[in-house]
Amino acid sequence: MHITIRQLQVFEAVARQLSYTRAAEELHLTQPAVSMQIKQLESSVGLSLFEQLGKRVFMTQAGETMLRHAETIMRHLGTAREEMDELKGVDSGRLRIAVASTVNYFATRLLATFTRLHPSVQITLDVTNREALLQKLEDNQPDIVLMGKPPKGLDLDADDFMDNPLIMIARPDHSLSKHRSIALKELTEETFVVRESGSGTRIAMERFFDQKSFAPSATIEMTGNETIKQSVEAGLGLAIVSVHTVELELALERLSRLDIRGMPIMRRWYVGHRRGKRLSPTAQAFRQFVLDEGTRQAVA
Ligand code: PGA
Repeated sequence: MHITIRQLQVFEAVARQLSYTRAAEELHLTQPAVSMQIKQLESSVGLSLFEQLGKRVFMTQAGETMLRHAETIMRHLGTAREEMDELKGVDSGRLRIAVASTVNYFATRLLATFTRLHPSVQITLDVTNREALLQKLEDNQPDIVLMGKPPKGLDLDADDFMDNPLIMIARPDHSLSKHRSIALKELTEETFVVRESGSGTRIAMERFFDQKSFAPSATIEMTGNETIKQSVEAGLGLAIVSVHTVELELALERLSRLDIRGMPIMRRWYVGHRRGKRLSPTAQAFRQFVLDEGTRQAVA
């Protein structure tokens, strides 16, 4: 059966009007053009859809069955058109965001504001460390990622939008917590609680220690920022974390920030997507929103 949408439209008009002439008027076609479309449709289905008795046109049983299906098809097409139109707007559609675990401390705030502006957008937020995030990008899972500086050679369009200062934290009663301009070499006897490998914070910390030719005498490795913070609060050691992860604890004086020479390690946050990926209007709007928010915070 080779049936075209046009044939179904013409058929539906004739079936509704029960007149070739009125259907032709409605569709701005000539009457022979309407007859031709119906003939072609009848020959495709192998049955007569109408019968003409005197001047009146009647639908055959095949015509009635065909009409039911034609109406369903037209309804589905209408819905498809409406949904496509919606996807052209920024206020709906799906947005898959993946963020580095450290970003999560402010990503939820960003999302709360964005969803107030675009309440019908369906958002999924995936939180993983840097390495897992890069794998997700490789697999083309997220629309947009928020992460530390992407590695060179990755096929990514990325723009930086906000500072990410890494600081050293200690328990407030640590002997050095009141000292100024502490040199790293004063910390050789300290234990450092460090992030799991694959974490961007960990990579930046190691690079910083290498530059300063510093190696802590002992390290304890832990997964995620929360466990690191709790361990430092419990007195297990010192740690380097993003300032975004400890704003509350610093304000409540549950942790203190050590004044280390050469710190904070200044990094930037990036918003990115795979190069060549067709961003939906919703994803484009979110990307622009993140860039604007970053600028706003820098100015504030
Ligand atoms: P992470 O943060 O340490 O949670 O992976 C990402 C980054 O700093 O690049």
